Amino acid sequence: MQITSMKSHKCGELRGKNINEEVKLSGWVSTIRDLGGIIFVELRDRSGFFQIVADPQINPEVHKVFETLKNEFVITVEGKVSVRPEETYNAKYPTGEVEMYPEKITVLSKSETLPFVLDDENVSEDVRLKYRYLDLRREPMLKKLQLRHKIVSAIRNYLNNQDFMEVETPILINTSPEGARDYLVPSRVHEGKFYALPQSPQIFKQLLMVGGIEKYYQIAKCFRDEDLRADRQPEFTQVDLEMSFVEQDDIINLVEGLIVEAFKQAEVEVKPPFKRITYKEAMEKYGSDKPDTRFGMELFDISDILMNSTFDAIKDVLQNGGTARALKVEGIANYSRKEMDDIRSLAISFGAKGLAWVTFMEDGTVKSPILKFLNEEQIEQFKSRANAKNGDIVFLLADKPKLVFDVLGRLRLHFGEKLNLIDKTIHDLLWVVDFPMFEFSEEEQRFMSVHHPFTSPNLEDLDKMETDPGNCRSVAYDIIYNGNELGGGSVRIHDSELQQRVFKALGLSEQDVHEKFEYLVNAFKYGTPPHAGLAIGLDRLVALLARTDSIRDVIAFPKNSNAKCLMTDAPGHASEEQLRELHLKLREKPMTNK
Ligand code: AMO
Ligand code: AMP
Repeated sequence: MQITSMKSHKCGELRGKNINEEVKLSGWVSTIRDLGGIIFVELRDRSGFFQIVADPQINPEVHKVFETLKNEFVITVEGKVSVRPEETYNAKYPTGEVEMYPEKITVLSKSETLPFVLDDENVSEDVRLKYRYLDLRREPMLKKLQLRHKIVSAIRNYLNNQDFMEVETPILINTSPEGARDYLVPSRVHEGKFYALPQSPQIFKQLLMVGGIEKYYQIAKCFRDEDLRADRQPEFTQVDLEMSFVEQDDIINLVEGLIVEAFKQAEVEVKPPFKRITYKEAMEKYGSDKPDTRFGMELFDISDILMNSTFDAIKDVLQNGGTARALKVEGIANYSRKEMDDIRSLAISFGAKGLAWVTFMEDGTVKSPILKFLNEEQIEQFKSRANAKNGDIVFLLADKPKLVFDVLGRLRLHFGEKLNLIDKTIHDLLWVVDFPMFEFSEEEQRFMSVHHPFTSPNLEDLDKMETDPGNCRSVAYDIIYNGNELGGGSVRIHDSELQQRVFKALGLSEQDVHEKFEYLVNAFKYGTPPHAGLAIGLDRLVALLARTDSIRDVIAFPKNSNAKCLMTDAPGHASEEQLRELHLKLREKPMTNK
């Protein structure tokens, strides 16, 4: 089979059945071994490796060219596939029983010595990112991109078969309300005005529903200027979808099917329906809205017990809207003073003001930094509520609920990892449902959307929107995999009056609404189908299935943790000329960041 004019076969596909076939191969020189005149080269292309050999006795001309080869030269060879002497079979490669003594060799391109040794594990990520095009030659990188491609193809097939349409939405838009900072693009034509890059296609996909598309999806680039972590990039990809005439369960069923197909590509079999847990339960039991339920260690309420203690500082917290929760960790009662101090420091680094504990020693005695505030009955209550045995420690924290859940939730994960309590063979998929509609922002001193302003309130809680916004639930849902948020979505508001009411509850002035969302509010006046959707973070999905910690590993050309592309050096400076055209003037001369 002729693949291209420079290749009759792929390097990695040749086997015993090809022996005596005339083939033409092209690729990179991967390793060279000169064994007393006979030169062995591993030729590499995307499909794998194949050994080619030059013997001065057999073909002195070809051998002469072989002598000039260096690593990463690009060559073409032609010749007959031959069987290798059995004792030299190479079990490392599927092509290990065959080789070729080329009759012809052409050097297509030479290579300088690479800036790093491709397979050296100790090369820093910065160097790999700077020379990403070389890093991509490594098999582990190739495998991850291939997995990504397979997952995207499977998702496209699945959605196409469900009658979805892929529609592109614009990249230069007006500012969108997803809650992160926008990337702005100055307009040359409209002096002093800016486009924003979409944080997601949210508004457009809703407008596609108004436009009658009914079933939309897109593998969409999204841009968010936020603090980066291993699972965040300034530009990332969503599998974005939206449907009309549906309710929450329709989206959940559809996405469960999509997850099955995506996971299959990584040879992971998962079976819907996935568990569902309410946001409230997730917070109260696991201290997180993306709970890792591969292990137990659930938090529990101890407010009532502490209310009866003499610990005034904590009672004060409890009387002012606070809560006290606890976490039992088994078998660590013998931790040293220093180990306990480290745990307290960890809790403080998570935002706690302090951390208390009650240690049930093996010998039946009890130790605690707050022992003086507790009587025997209260200690007994702790022990029985925690279902603790001698040898266990119960950690206690009192503060505002959000902080208590967050800190104890993170301590729970810390101990889960440290004590090896997480069964890594489990694929734990679940839905978190019944998210709150609003969350009070201490910073802005107003209620903000937990999801986004187009999310429908739970119709049972409509009355609470004005009277008790903090307890108004929305119809939003997240899909969680092993404690990671894979994706999220919601049923949307399709009624312009309700939409206005939500804007009002968010404290958005008519002016704000007019400026930001007038076209959406207007669109909803002309017959809007009930609609709902969701977006999955594709990079996260692939990274988790490729079992890598960083989404950078599954993106061909990612930014580093400082939002910089080390290869192209973006972001770069704009010339005076460009700035003038864009009607911009820099406030200060930027320091050169070389
Ligand atoms: P949301 O903001 O929850 O929802 O985003 C959906 C998913 O996108 C992924 N994600 C990211 N991945 C990498 N880097 C980032 N900076 C980043 N930010 C988010 C996460 C997340 O679960 N328009 C709504 C969806 C909807 O309501 O339909 C949205 O964007 O995996
Ligand atoms: P104090 O009497 O302030 O020294 O506190 C006694 C112990 O209680 C110390 O171990 C503190 O870390 C801990 N502690 C203080 N405030 C809290 C709190 N809000 N929740 C849990 N433990 C606390």
